[in-house]
This record gives sequence, C-alpha cells and structure tokens, in this order.
Amino acid sequence: MVRESEYLVFTKNLVKRFGDVVALKGVNFRVGYNEVVGLVGDNGAGKSTLAKILAGIYVPDEGEIYVKGQRFRRLTPQKARELGIELVHQERTLAEDHPIWRNIFMGREITGPLGFLRIKEMKAAAEKLLNEIGLKAIPPDTPVKFLSGGYKQGVQIARAVQFEADLVILDEPTIQLSISEVHRVLEYVHGLKKRGKSCVFITHNIYHVYPVADRFVIIDRGKIVAEFRKVDVTPEDLTHILVSIARTGTIPEKYEKINLLNVAGSN
Ligand SMILES: Nc1ncnc2c1ncn2[C@@H]1O[C@H](COP(=O)(O)OP(=O)(O)OP(=O)(O)O)[C@@H](O)[C@H]1O
Ligand SMILES: [Mg+2]
Repeated sequence: MVRESEYLVFTKNLVKRFGDVVALKGVNFRVGYNEVVGLVGDNGAGKSTLAKILAGIYVPDEGEIYVKGQRFRRLTPQKARELGIELVHQERTLAEDHPIWRNIFMGREITGPLGFLRIKEMKAAAEKLLNEIGLKAIPPDTPVKFLSGGYKQGVQIARAVQFEADLVILDEPTIQLSISEVHRVLEYVHGLKKRGKSCVFITHNIYHVYPVADRFVIIDRGKIVAEFRKVDVTPEDLTHILVSIARTGTIPEKYEKINLLNVAGSN
C-alpha cells in the first residue's frame, strides 16, 4: 500500500474536461521527495494540463491532490506556491522589458516598512542567486529581452529557487534551445536535485530528460500508460516504447514486467 504522505505530490484519479475534450482521464501521478520525474508524451497528451492543476491554475473536475500528505480537491496559484510548487511555463512568463532582478522578484518584491521597493537588496540577491545556478556573466540589470532562450529558462528557475520551491515543474524547458543551452537547463535541474528539491521535467525529447530523471512517466491521451525507473531502461528503450504507443496505443510486451504500473508494491 502506498501512503500519500510518502510523496511530495500524489494525485488520485484526476479528471479534467474542456467542453467535450477530456484532457485527463483519471490520472494517478506521484513525485517523491528529492526526485526528478520525466513526464513524457505526445502533443495533446495532457502534460501541461496536469502541470497546471498542480500549480493551481486549473481546477480538476474530479480527483484529489495530496501535497506533503495534505489532501486537496483543488489548489489555487497562491496555495500551490505556499506549498512550495512552482511552475515554469511552456508559454514564457517573463516581462521582457524588465531587468533580470525584477523578473526574479516579480509579484513578491522585497519592500521596506513604507512599501518602497528595496531595489539594492533585490539586485544583490539576484546576483547571488544567478551565481549559484551558474549564470554568472550577465549583470542583473540586463533586460530579459536581450537574453538567450536558455538564459531565460535560467531566470525562471532562479525565481523558483529564490522562493525555495520544493517542487519545480518545467514544462518543455528545452524546446527551441540550442544544444549548449539544453545542457545548461540540465545543469539547473542537477542543481535542484543537489539542493534536495524535486522536479517534474516535461518534454517530448527523451534524450533531453534522460540524463537528469530518476523515473519516467509516460502519458498518452489523458492516461498514464507506463512508468519506468531509469535503472530499468535506456533512452533507446524509451524511444521504442513511445513509438509503439504512438502507433498502436500499447507498449511492447517485453517492457510490461518493468512497467511500475504492473509491479506489485510500487503503485
Ligand atoms: N484551456 C484549454 N481549453 C480547451 N482545451 C484545452 C485547454 N488546454 C488544453 N486543452 C486540450 O486538452 C488536451 C491536452 O492538452 P495539453 O496542453 O495538456 O497537452 P500537452 O501534453 O501539454 O501537449 P503539448 O505537448 O502539445 O504541449 C488537448 O486536447 C488540448 O487541446
Ligand atoms: Mg504542453
């Protein structure tokens, strides 16, 4: 028997409908403490919908969400944040004309007793943070619009780290990035793991997530169809499995015995 409190996040039977579209059809998803989960699936599989439910942006139609053992029917963005869940969106949410430091503190600015912004303090904190996650060369005064895609991801991750998120959800963080920028994002994820945090890394690209994930969860048309521990599969196995799901809707038989959904005691 799995106990909800053993996991940082645990969902039971999440259902989400958009009109006639059923985006999630009873999703049981879990993320352990200090675990990196690769969430993979085709376009429209429901990955972003699940992420947005965990971040309190969407309200599920059915099901439950447990965070650190606490049970919820729904979260709000505020509640999710309070619980330590940060979503780095697929649609970028940075204010392009504002400097890096401003973006890191946006909505949670440090202010003095009269409500004035403590700009110096925020700049210094931003600089320290950027250093910590390996974004050294660029001054925190730089407007975000001048940054590369990889660096922008870094700023969003810095935001999450600044507020000591326990779970950072990255929705397609490596899409449209160059190889060296992908590498940089993977470094951030390693950094989160080293700090004892958890991460959900959403992607189409197995090769991007493979180096950093502890476990892979495959979602197909609103259902989780398979889960594998990294030690049980190679990236080639996962590619093979994804191709099979896309073609036939099923996973090759030889992988069923290591599919955690079928392994007694692990689900
Ligand atoms: N706000 C919305 N209104 C209506 N339908 C939506 C909305 N958000 C998602 N959907 C639908 O729900 C399904 C799942 O979408 P979702 O964005 O979660 O998929 P995804 O796995 O993130 O796909 P992608 O890889 O393309 O980002 C799709 O059929 C999508 O069209
Ligand atoms: Mg998506």
